[in-house]
Amino acid sequence: MLASSLWHRSALVGAADSDGWQCQCAWHAWNPNPCSMCQTFSDRLSTTDLSPILFLATITGATPFFITTISSVSFEFTRWDRRSMVPTLTNALLRSHAYGSLYQATFLPNSKAPPMTTRRSFLKTAAATAASCSLPRWFLDEQSVAAPIEAGDRPAVALVGCGGMGRGDARSAARFGRIVAVCDVDDRQIGEAKKLWPDADAVKDFRRVMDRKDIQIVVCGTVDHWHTLVSLAALRSGKDVYCEKPLTLTVEEGQHLVRAVRDTKQILQTGSQQRSDRNFRLACELVRNGRIGKISHVSVWLPHGRREGPFRTAVSPDGFDWNFWQGPTPQVDYVPERTHVTFRYWWDYSGGTMTDWGAHHNDIALWGLGLERSGPVAVEAKPLVEMIPGGFTAFSEYSVQYTYANGVTHSCHSTTANAWNGSVLDPKGQQHGVKFEGSDGWIWVTRGNIAASDPEFLTTPLPSDAVRLYESHDHMGNLFDCVKSRQAPVCEAEIGHRSATVCHLGVISLRLGRKLQWDPDTERFRGDDEANHWLRREMRQPWSLNSV
Ligand SMILES: NC(=O)c1ccc[n+]([C@@H]2O[C@H](COP(=O)([O-])OP(=O)(O)OC[C@H]3O[C@@H](n4cnc5c(N)ncnc54)[C@H](O)[C@@H]3O)[C@@H](O)[C@H]2O)c1
Repeated sequence: MLASSLWHRSALVGAADSDGWQCQCAWHAWNPNPCSMCQTFSDRLSTTDLSPILFLATITGATPFFITTISSVSFEFTRWDRRSMVPTLTNALLRSHAYGSLYQATFLPNSKAPPMTTRRSFLKTAAATAASCSLPRWFLDEQSVAAPIEAGDRPAVALVGCGGMGRGDARSAARFGRIVAVCDVDDRQIGEAKKLWPDADAVKDFRRVMDRKDIQIVVCGTVDHWHTLVSLAALRSGKDVYCEKPLTLTVEEGQHLVRAVRDTKQILQTGSQQRSDRNFRLACELVRNGRIGKISHVSVWLPHGRREGPFRTAVSPDGFDWNFWQGPTPQVDYVPERTHVTFRYWWDYSGGTMTDWGAHHNDIALWGLGLERSGPVAVEAKPLVEMIPGGFTAFSEYSVQYTYANGVTHSCHSTTANAWNGSVLDPKGQQHGVKFEGSDGWIWVTRGNIAASDPEFLTTPLPSDAVRLYESHDHMGNLFDCVKSRQAPVCEAEIGHRSATVCHLGVISLRLGRKLQWDPDTERFRGDDEANHWLRREMRQPWSLNSV
């Protein structure tokens, strides 16, 4: 009965882990909280296969959560091992209880799970997954189907930065290429990657990866302050790049990357994967075609960051090169919280959720406004809470207002309804996402959900002469397609740079505590030397933008 009712909802609560079954979103490799980060789905389960899960759900009493799930997520099963799924799912359900927030997975009925994903099966299942997220029929019917990857056409890939996201990206890349090298400044992280790709070379210095002529693609999953130097090194040594978002730490870095892509003619995809999610593209296409009338405002909400501390210094662990990890940033004593995962709450290395999540949702705001190669003309930001002395140094709660040359405004607020990783803390509170507001109504979009003030905004097809946007259904797949075609990917360097810039402007205004005037053409603040100073950061020797 329970199984049947759940099945007919075609939804199931679960959580993913690095053992046995793998969620596309790599947060799960290290993160105990369920989250709403995933967007792709590439395999199928039968009802028989689901029965141990349903049984576990019953005995752990998880049923009520099935009904109250609010976010949608989908999974990729890269390994098919039912025995290992049982402990993993038991663990997942217990965690769900412990953390009190859940996410929803959509599984498709029937078929034995094929161990390998093809682009075709991926797209078919992804389309059906999307249908369950209320995408309109007309939009789904027109989706293109990509050619399957041919055997023998699998480029050699190196992973630099083997943390949770890097490993997730590399898993995604392994659907289309061969992982031949894994690189990290921490032996433990290399060890985790070696469990997945035992035959890959283990390297501690990313420059050795660049020396290898056989490697065609570098996946950069490092901390933010290394993105630019690793990507520049890869581009300059003739490799194509998948670089995680936010693409850069500073505006100046982005300008260099854009130039390097142009000069080297290499391909660079930024890891702002919402560009390959149908919900976001549909929202942006509708807005661009005037479905909500004249656009006046975009509201963006981002999960709030972490406000913790003070923290203590410690001895850095064996096998972890703390000096190399810091690289171009100021040298300080080792503090565990400065490193893995929580690095994003330190201004030295990142911009808090303003850049972490802003690189996703502000990117969509620019896409919908058609300003993805430009930017605002003014920014005014204020922190909403004070930092704890000796604790994290990136703002955890904030309010930022942007103005564009055409008079459109864009607000970017942190919300406490979501935890830093996007999981739901308060189902009734404001969830992270993007709301486009126009003279005729609004369109709301977030991961797994699109809604409008008038349902017909979504259900009425766009006319044949409508402006259509770059169509990508698989962010990593799009990179591999572009590696072959030499065309620009959906989130090429300039787009990644401009989206990161909007976030950096917010952070600079937050730090200076005043309104700033920005010129998106010259990419400088108008008449403000102090603000312009923060468009770049001095790199610690021997690192510089020309040192790689
Ligand atoms: N696209 C998304 O949805 C998404 C989700 C999560 C994280 N991310 C991004 O992925 C990146 C990594 O995030 P994470 O949570 O996995 O962080 P993490 O701290 O777990 O992993 C980063 C890894 O990079 C390694 N590293 C640091 N400097 C290095 C260097 N010079 N050479 C090689 N390795 C180095 C670290 O040792 C660590 O293992 C961040 O930029 C983050 O913003 C993107």
